[in-house]
Order: sequence, then structure tokens, then C-alpha cells
Amino acid sequence: MKRTNRKTKKNVITIDGPSASGKGIISKNLARIFGWNILNSGAIYRSLAFLSVKNKVSYLVESNLLFLTDQLNLKFKIKKNKLFIILNNQDVTLNILDEKIGIIASKISIFPSLRKKILNMQKNFYQPPGLIAEGRDMGSIVFPEASVKIFLDASLKIRAIRRTKQLQKKGFNVNFKDIFFKIRDRDNSDINRKIAPLAPDSQALIIDSTLLNVEEVIQKIIFYTKQKINLNIN
Ligand code: DC
Repeated sequence: MKRTNRKTKKNVITIDGPSASGKGIISKNLARIFGWNILNSGAIYRSLAFLSVKNKVSYLVESNLLFLTDQLNLKFKIKKNKLFIILNNQDVTLNILDEKIGIIASKISIFPSLRKKILNMQKNFYQPPGLIAEGRDMGSIVFPEASVKIFLDASLKIRAIRRTKQLQKKGFNVNFKDIFFKIRDRDNSDINRKIAPLAPDSQALIIDSTLLNVEEVIQKIIFYTKQKINLNIN
């Protein structure tokens, strides 16, 4: 995939990393603190997975996904410190959180034409004064010109513990062992796919959050961001 100019920096903070590394909660908090727009790019793949299941079309056929992409109208809203994912005017936040949807999302994310097609959609989420963009290829492919790039990692075990707790809190009937293996499989396919595989961009600051809490990660990112750009926050 063609890379755009990295030299003209943009007020974009990219947060890439494996499943359940904390990208979601960190991005939401940063977007709220900075008053910037947010892009949860995983929600695009998850929404396509959700629509293919809902419309009973095979997600293994790329043309089906390209067709569904044309019908995709995705918005992110932060209210009372919660992120809501609105797909075609419907709140699908919980529907797409299911790990079954995550697995399908990972399977469909290997299609090159699909990735190309949603590239502009993702870029359009940028709006002054800035954007927090999270996913797998935000710093490497979608926003190579981002002024701050973060790669958020954590051990597989702690990620599985966090995701199990998150899903249980939302009422999903899941257990640690099952989530552990599902996340491990998803990591493998995201890391080993040919197009835009999960990997830190060469300019990314790598943060291992295994032993850090949310506040500590946020403070690290704010400290790092202040060294890169002028931020109007305390
Ligand atoms: O971040 P997430 O768990 O919601 O992402 C779900 C899947 O979507 C992930 O396993 C791979 C795919 N994905 C991707 O390929 N590129 C992105 N930028 C974001 C997600």
C-alpha cells in the first residue's frame, strides 16, 4: 500500500497494538481530555463482521464486504466518559464487542481491496484540532504523518484477564481460558497477515502496560505528546 508523506506532521496520535492491550480505554480518555475526535478503526472491521452476520452473507467473499462497506455509516460518540459506536444510526457498541465478532473482524481484515477501500473513510475522521486513532495500522499506513505514534502492548495473560473482566462486566458469559485462546489466535492472524500486519511503526513509542494502570499509561502518553506538539491542556 502506498505511503503518504511523513514529513508534514498532523495533530494525530495513533495508538496501535494487539487486542485488549487497552487501546480503547486509553484512546477514549485522551480524546476526552484533549477534546479531539476519535477513530476506533477496529469498529469498522467489527461493524462489517456484524453486518455480514446480520444480513447472512459470507464474510469470506471480498465482494460482499465491499458491498457492505458502501452501506457503512459509522460515528463515535463519547458521553459521560463512555464510547458509543453508532452504525447507521443504531447503537451497536455491545453487539460488536462480542469476541465472536472480533474473530470474524480479524478474518476479514486480510482483504487488500477492503483495506484500500476503507482507507479514505478512516482518514476522514481527522478534524482540527486533532484526532486519536487506534487500531493496528494507524501509525504505519493510515496516518503516517501523525505527530505522535504509540504502540501499546501487554502480556497475553494480562490482556486476556482484562478482556474477560470487561466482557463479564457487560453481561457476556465468558471465561478466562476461552478468551485467552481466542486472543492468542487473533494475535497470530493479525501479526502474520500479508497486508498491514500488526507491528510497531519505526517511529512509535512502545509502551508495555502489563504492570501499568490506565492513569499511568495516559500520563506517559501526555508527557510524550507535550514533547512533540503544543498542547493546550494542564
Ligand atoms: O481492535 P479490535 O479488537 O476491535 O479489532 C478487531 C479486528 O479488526 C482485529 O483483530 C484486526 C482488525 N483490525 C485491523 O486489521 N486493522 C485495524 N486498524 C483495526 C482492527
